[in-house]
Amino acid sequence: MATLKFLSFLIFQLFLIANNCEGVEVGFYKKTCPNVEAIVKETTKHFISIAPTLAAPLLRMHFHDCFVRGCDGSVLLNSTKGNKAEKDAIPNQSLRGFQVIDAAKSALEKECPGIVSCSDVLALAARDAVSLINGPTWSVPLGRRDGRVSILSEASKNLPTPFDNFTTLKTTFGALGLNVKDLVVLSGGHTIGMSHCFSFSSRLYNFTGKGDMDPNMDQNYINHLKIKCKPADGTTIVEMDPGSFKSFDTDYYTMVSKRRGLFASDAALLTDTQTKHYVLSQLNQHGSTFFKDFGESMVKMGQIGVLTGNAGEIRKHCAFRN
Ligand code: HEM
Repeated sequence: MATLKFLSFLIFQLFLIANNCEGVEVGFYKKTCPNVEAIVKETTKHFISIAPTLAAPLLRMHFHDCFVRGCDGSVLLNSTKGNKAEKDAIPNQSLRGFQVIDAAKSALEKECPGIVSCSDVLALAARDAVSLINGPTWSVPLGRRDGRVSILSEASKNLPTPFDNFTTLKTTFGALGLNVKDLVVLSGGHTIGMSHCFSFSSRLYNFTGKGDMDPNMDQNYINHLKIKCKPADGTTIVEMDPGSFKSFDTDYYTMVSKRRGLFASDAALLTDTQTKHYVLSQLNQHGSTFFKDFGESMVKMGQIGVLTGNAGEIRKHCAFRN
């Protein structure tokens, strides 16, 4: 009898361990919510067909989620009385598209209540957003659970800044298990979307604090940007990939190679042999491996610090812990 008890205890413990070590997997909701992917896709499509510029912030939101506490939906949580959340950190103040995640989640709660995490909804919406604007698609491993913690200062500390140099970027990405190739590939996300002038205007007006310009930016481009962005401009936004900011393509690498990347962090990709080689190798649209590479690096990024098994929770509403 004692042996039997011990054995069932052992099996139970093994079950717990297995459950906690579980990774994410494609088709995780096959039995529990078979329509999850169709529902998220339909919702994302609905919003993006009305406002195509929403694709970019959805992709960025997933990136900002994963880089702070892992892909646990912590970027979606609202502040509470005593605690400012990641959402309130400066780089997250320009995120948009929370309504897309909320709409998909509420459709899912009707179909299969309490099953699909907000972090999974975000990973799927980011993928769908990219593919809906002519970008690649990829299979998203699912089964993330939602975190209960979201802290403003962690977002300020852990997100890369547009002023970072190559060494800093390499360290930030490396600490999360992403290599130099992932860095140059994922930076290609800047082929879509908009940026505020303040994210790069120091390159135009006051690069080293002496009223100078960044010598690593094309002078003609600086002149062009100065017309749009006046010093200390806090509101104007510009296209990051002028002409095709609503279409996911390889133009980002063309811009960077011409020293027309908007941020110092984009220009930094020309300062390392490996990333420079990647940038230059993507210039021929037909020979480009960017789409395939992007899917692979997104899957990798989407697995940073995921909560699985019994960890975390499945939020009922993405902006609030249960
Ligand atoms: C390598 C480090 C990175 C830095 C320093 C960086 C920085 C920034 C900054 C400063 C902006 C403009 C924000 C604003 O002024 O409104 C931006 C926009 C954007 N970033 Fe990044 N980013 C990085 C990597 C990534 C990655 C990995 C992705 C996705 C895979 C991404 C996707 C985007 C998108 C799509 C936008 C446009 C958002 C919009 O239109 O609202 N970025 N990024």
